[in-house]
Amino acid sequence: MGTLTHKVAEIRPIYANGDPPQQRKAIERSFPFVEISEIAERQSWRKDVYQPVYYIHKWWARRLSSVFRAIVLGACAPAEGAAARGSDGVLDLFYKPSRFPDTLIYDPFMGSGTTVGEAHKLGCRVIGRDINPVSYFMVKNALSTHDISEVRQTFKAIERDVSSRIKAYYKARTEHYGLVDVLYYFWVKFVPCPCCGAQVDLFDSRIFARNARPSKQPEAKSLCPACEAINSTMVYQTEVKCDQCGTSYNPQEGPAGRTNATCSHCQSDFPIIEAVRTLDRPPHHRMYAKVILRPDGSKEYLPIDEYDQALYREASAELRTGNFAYPQVAIEAGYNTDQVLNYNYTHWHQMFNHRQLLCLSILSERIRNIEDDSLRALFACLLSGCLEFNSMFCSFKGEGTGAVRHTFSHHILKPERTPLEANLWGTPESSGSFSTLFEQRILRALEYKENPFELQLSDRTNGGRQSKKVFNINREVGGEIASAYDDFQRGDLGIYLSCGSSSHTDIEDGVVDAVITDPPFFDNVHYSQLADFFYVWIREMMGREGIFQAETTRSSEEVQQTDSRRFTDNLIAVFKDCHRVLKDDGLLIFTYHHSRPEGWSAILEAIHEAGFYIEATHPVKSEMSVAIPKQQAKSPIDTDIIIVGRKLALIEPFPEVPVNLFSECVEETSEIVEAFNESNRRLSCSDVTVIMMARLITTLSRARDLEKILSYLSSAEREIGAVVEGVWTQQKPREMLVEERQMRLF
Ligand SMILES: C[S@@+](CC[C@H](N)C(=O)[O-])C[C@H]1O[C@@H](n2cnc3c(N)ncnc32)[C@H](O)[C@@H]1O
Ligand SMILES: [Zn+2]
Ligand SMILES: [Zn+2]
Repeated sequence: MGTLTHKVAEIRPIYANGDPPQQRKAIERSFPFVEISEIAERQSWRKDVYQPVYYIHKWWARRLSSVFRAIVLGACAPAEGAAARGSDGVLDLFYKPSRFPDTLIYDPFMGSGTTVGEAHKLGCRVIGRDINPVSYFMVKNALSTHDISEVRQTFKAIERDVSSRIKAYYKARTEHYGLVDVLYYFWVKFVPCPCCGAQVDLFDSRIFARNARPSKQPEAKSLCPACEAINSTMVYQTEVKCDQCGTSYNPQEGPAGRTNATCSHCQSDFPIIEAVRTLDRPPHHRMYAKVILRPDGSKEYLPIDEYDQALYREASAELRTGNFAYPQVAIEAGYNTDQVLNYNYTHWHQMFNHRQLLCLSILSERIRNIEDDSLRALFACLLSGCLEFNSMFCSFKGEGTGAVRHTFSHHILKPERTPLEANLWGTPESSGSFSTLFEQRILRALEYKENPFELQLSDRTNGGRQSKKVFNINREVGGEIASAYDDFQRGDLGIYLSCGSSSHTDIEDGVVDAVITDPPFFDNVHYSQLADFFYVWIREMMGREGIFQAETTRSSEEVQQTDSRRFTDNLIAVFKDCHRVLKDDGLLIFTYHHSRPEGWSAILEAIHEAGFYIEATHPVKSEMSVAIPKQQAKSPIDTDIIIVGRKLALIEPFPEVPVNLFSECVEETSEIVEAFNESNRRLSCSDVTVIMMARLITTLSRARDLEKILSYLSSAEREIGAVVEGVWTQQKPREMLVEERQMRLF
């Protein structure tokens, strides 16, 4: 099957200086959408395993590395060669040991470092920059060289020095096995009833533990409202008789509903937020159950006893008297933080309980004392990553899965009514602990870096496609990292990373071959507001100097959503600097994840104002589709667009928007949709919109007058809606596509 690319041959621009740029790159002509999407899809099942370098720490909106590998290849490989090999030039190179030592790739919004890492694996020279110190910190750790044995030794030393002290705070005394490790403690928030003052637990159900797949494994645990005994319960049961006190209760019901709660003492019904507002602090929590690890490795749910309470009090007392320097930084208002502020969380450290604060402080102090800078940074990165799984904003995901639902599972910071406290040091059965994340994040990344691989899918068989790892095609990952452009330029270093706004950089004029990036488009995630959660801790461990001087990672130059004008202006500023550092025939390539309609005019304006036009756009599978909430399922967006831009000075822009533009776009959109159908993919209405819009802006970007361009776009809005709806409904129904696919398999 061919590639699904917008053909713009009919309206190919006239080049200002006569000839087109000397050498076209493969990505200006085509992109093997279908094949790359299939690899990307498989990769998205276990991103942490298949692209571990970018998973040593949390970051938001991380991209699939296979897509960016393909983009880098498309930006490096000449179009002519690709054409000679058919339309699959990029694919051809995908599993070959390709190297491009003369190509300089720059990512001004590097995030977790996907572009930088992928370009580096292909032997390019790379520059990465991000305004957020947490991003910079994690990418620097990911791409620095570490000696695995030194890293292991450092871990051993930390273990020797502090693990027993930490582990002692996660112990339970049991009748049958003596002292055992606790894996998890279950907590519940409670608030005072505004009517009678009684404490009301914010349980919305008495079932507190179930399997992640309850239809297959319906056994669950519920808590007796009368005596707090733990009863084995089927998830669907509506009546349980307590084994211990004989009380009958409906395990599906708890005192708290979505917004209101009912006081079990005076029966009054009240809004939870109002009860929270009567407090001058975040709501308190009560421990009600735990999971212990038996000596044979099995788990057991047990109620909380006096030993557990005393142990927690001891941790609290040690925290109070021990002079621990955990960060105490205020949370600023913002789109992603307002909800926690409403719950009276005014400081970041309030998101942890005393035992968590104590044990995190013990570890953080130990890490601060690591002498070697790069090892200290690596372990600070590890501990910071643990914060996500060890706050009182975590909850229980269920049996049969990574047990901890982490702090950022809702994007905004959402106060958790029934938090799960995990064992910070961890046991072999733990998830998200210091010792397990050391293996799963740090060691896995280091092993990958020594021997990086790509995923390859086998041909279709009746049983579906197998994947295998292909080794020995990439260069080893990592090297000495320049921290200023001059050093990078003078020395023979292959990587230059910096932290700051990409609207101004120290990169020389006209040196970059391709900017390959993924800008933060209108996606409601305000990176800096969330990143501060980690930042305040990293800053304590690394010292409050240099990039860690400020109390927050927020910056007025950050490109983010709040206000569309400011967003566009900030994006223009970054693209302008990209224009400055790019060679005359350099490429600006970025992915666009569709969100709000204004997004299209914002990018078009940014591209145009910064002095670029769009040479080509390619659809590509979006890895975000899995995260789309149910209500959007009718029209999920499965498609991102890769936008390939060049400097506007290369062409003679159209004086007017071409008259036949709309009909051409409709025709091509239909062709692309058909091609998708041929590959057995039925597109959602939003997908079709994305494809149509991408086609429209490709031509619009070549018109001279920005005002005309933008007014065309806004006046066409309604018509676009109607046309898209038409193209969308003309597709074959999904059932037919599935049938065709099955016929092909046999
Ligand atoms: C969508 S994320 C990039 C994600 C990345 N592609 C990945 O796979 O991890 C966008 C990034 O842009 C950064 N950013 C926002 N404004 C910036 C600016 N003015 N200069 C540099 N970086 C900025 C944010 O901190 C964020 O890390
Ligand atoms: Zn009972
Ligand atoms: Zn009451």
